[in-house]
Amino acid sequence: MKALPAIEGNHNLKNYEEAVQNFDWEDVRKTFSWHKTGKVNLAYEAIDYHAENGKGEQVALYYSDARRDESYTFAEMKTFSNKAANVLKEANVKKGDRVFIFMPRTPELYFTLLGAIKIGAIVGPLFEAFMEGAVRDRLEDSGAKVLITTPTLLERVPFDDLPDLETVLVADETYEDNGPFLQLNKRLQAAPSDVAIEWVDREDGLILHYTSGSTGKPKGVLHVHEAMVQHYHTAKVVLDLQPDDIYWCTADPGWVTGTSYGIFAPWLAGVTNVVRGGRFSPTDWYETIQRYKVTVWYSAPTAFRMLMSAGDELVKQYDLSSLRHVLSVGEPLNPEVVRWGVKVFDKRIHDTWWMTETGAQMICNYPAMEIRPGSMGKPIPGVEAAIIDDRGNELPPNRMGNLAIKKGWPAMMRAIWNNEAKYQSYFELDGWYVSGDSAYMDEDGYFWFQGRIDDVIMTAGERVGPFEVESKLVEHPAVAEAGVIGKPDPVRGEIIKAFIALRQGYEVTDELKEEIRQFVKTGLAAHAAPREMEFRKSLPKTRSGKIMRRVLKAWELDLPTGDLSTMED
Ligand code: WTA
Repeated sequence: MKALPAIEGNHNLKNYEEAVQNFDWEDVRKTFSWHKTGKVNLAYEAIDYHAENGKGEQVALYYSDARRDESYTFAEMKTFSNKAANVLKEANVKKGDRVFIFMPRTPELYFTLLGAIKIGAIVGPLFEAFMEGAVRDRLEDSGAKVLITTPTLLERVPFDDLPDLETVLVADETYEDNGPFLQLNKRLQAAPSDVAIEWVDREDGLILHYTSGSTGKPKGVLHVHEAMVQHYHTAKVVLDLQPDDIYWCTADPGWVTGTSYGIFAPWLAGVTNVVRGGRFSPTDWYETIQRYKVTVWYSAPTAFRMLMSAGDELVKQYDLSSLRHVLSVGEPLNPEVVRWGVKVFDKRIHDTWWMTETGAQMICNYPAMEIRPGSMGKPIPGVEAAIIDDRGNELPPNRMGNLAIKKGWPAMMRAIWNNEAKYQSYFELDGWYVSGDSAYMDEDGYFWFQGRIDDVIMTAGERVGPFEVESKLVEHPAVAEAGVIGKPDPVRGEIIKAFIALRQGYEVTDELKEEIRQFVKTGLAAHAAPREMEFRKSLPKTRSGKIMRRVLKAWELDLPTGDLSTMED
């Protein structure tokens, strides 16, 4: 697909090359209080600062779901997060203690998360869909002292097996206190609305996000307050947030996108943030954009693909003309999806690459820059990325290798909780953080994702990135989603096997299979065409929407599937 030209307009980042050359993280650090005092607190900078500096009456949070419809100004967010901080203090929470939050998106989630940070605690948000084993692993490993949850989810909390867990706050107005299980709501109401902020060091703990690898238990990725420097910087140069923006990030705070970009970045930048509770539904999502007049929208390829499958007729029933800037993260963004975005919203979707471990956006597409659909874009000003071989040598353009980042960006993880060896394993090549993704860089410095290193397929001597094949497959009108793996083969090393979910109205026939195979063959390469295809209603995905190729592979080869706690039902 052809490159799409830069968008005209008064963007925060006007000239990429210039911004890269003149960039100094120290200039961004000056935005925050430690510049003067040596201490800081992210929650203060995100909420109280705005409440006290002319934005008290501006809406900070629009919240709605099927039952609730609320809005909170920055002044109100300050009050409610202070109250939550006081409730947590009553529960004996001290600086550095872990406070976990296991509940669906509701205003109380946001109050308590910010309140915990205000008193220097480390927060740990969990997806509401986690079952007992997943909850136990995370609370046990982190040694959480307090958990905030709902009556329904309480059943999945094995309280008696968790010696460090002292108090459970239950968000429900009718819940009756029962030993260590206390009702949150009445305590929030009664709590004082002022609190003494715990001023912390830049390197003090902020948040723990558990992520699963292909083997072993999920690991706790620790981020510190210093991450705010990059959240703020990317809010400006990548999200391109302007004071009047209405911003909507669709991610749940159980996923790093839902905290770094659903909470920290927009509020550090002082903009109005939309949160829509409940499950994904195309009509609901379009309504949300129309109703709040969302201007900047951050979502994920899987959601865009589901909106695509819902059909273009549906989009036309809504007024989405408020949208100014649309972004995506979590998985490679298929060129087909970019094309669809241009067609239906008249907006290019901007891909952004980063990871739980990087804490914030790293390689991105910018409004003021030409985008090349299928490419993740270029490193943000202040970040140095390269493609390296297994010994740490930088590779020339167009060679596939390890996507690596020069150590030392502000939002970099600072520990894997309880697992120093694992943490060090990311940095074995001197000076580099090795991401585990494989990619190449073109002559002009654009990065192109190929797959997780473990996912790259070797077939008849050719290296094939599964993403390229998947992207081609979803271009076919019958294909809604595709996951591609390498299957061991005595002759070819591996052959390409595609798992496909068809769009509504299509049926599996030999003709269709052959047509799809030919489509990849002529559109990509003969060696990239799937030799085997299997059709399923849906594909195994993480809650953040990533197709779990390792699960497909395990099913195919009858191997153990590893940790499945992050898999969607
Ligand atoms: C993948 C997400 C291609 C990648 C914030 C990475 C992507 C992993 C992209 C991290 C993208 C994320 N293009 N691949 N734009 N964004 N990924 O920890 O494999 O959920 O290493 O963080 O997702 O996923 P995580």
